[in-house]
Amino acid sequence: MSNKLYIFFGTIAASAMMSSCVSRGNNAGWEYAPDMYYSKGYEPYSQVDSNKVNPYGMNMREPVPGTVAIGKLDYQYGLENNGNGYEASIHLKAPTNLSYVDGQGKHLFEIYCVVCHGKLGNNDGEVFKKVPTLKPGAWKAYTDLYIRELPEGKIYHTLTYGKNNMGSHASVLSPTERWKVIDYVKQLSRQVFPSAPEMDVPPSSKANKITSTN
Ligand code: HEC
Repeated sequence: MSNKLYIFFGTIAASAMMSSCVSRGNNAGWEYAPDMYYSKGYEPYSQVDSNKVNPYGMNMREPVPGTVAIGKLDYQYGLENNGNGYEASIHLKAPTNLSYVDGQGKHLFEIYCVVCHGKLGNNDGEVFKKVPTLKPGAWKAYTDLYIRELPEGKIYHTLTYGKNNMGSHASVLSPTERWKVIDYVKQLSRQVFPSAPEMDVPPSSKANKITSTN
């Protein structure tokens, strides 16, 4: 092979090697000493590979059966993520020993739910505006009879596992926080808009004015 060809192939090989070192997008590039980045020990809060020893391949362990960490009495959720679990969830009731007037429900709703459901629950959040096909097909706004009459337990189930296009919120909302958000959803469902026709409000529902902070 001539010198020119050596240089040609050499350049191609070198540039291929160089470009594979570069990190971009989902490519972390070459790591010269991965042990410097990733602990060899099992770290409960970070996981690179599937754990070969623990159940479910997870570094983090489930609590020992029959034990409850302090303050985590409501950690276990007994109902399964299927239609039967959803139907059974109507028996779940919001705890009565929580404060529902501390504004936390509204605060959390504005962090996690407004992007889709909108500030007042009219399904006009930025995500739904951008991708309208994601919207719930069966109801338009929280003020619809469907949400007004939806048992709070079912909403808890939906927040825990997600439902169709809505993802689970179990990792970001503790059980207590879920109940507070649900209380706020129910408040929004009872709001009356000045322009809403009278018949839109069922006689049994309590009028509940919500003022937008915007
Ligand atoms: C990514 C957009 C998205 C986000 C974020 C989101 N939702 Fe939803 N939500 C949906 C969709 C889509 C549905 C309709 C699911 C179905 O029935 O197909 C839904 C359904 C619901 C329902 C009716 C549940 C049922 O059992 O029929 C309630 C109540 C609700 N969402 C409340 C919330 C609350 C509270 C939050 C924040 C903690 C939230 N959603 C966050 C998209 C979202």
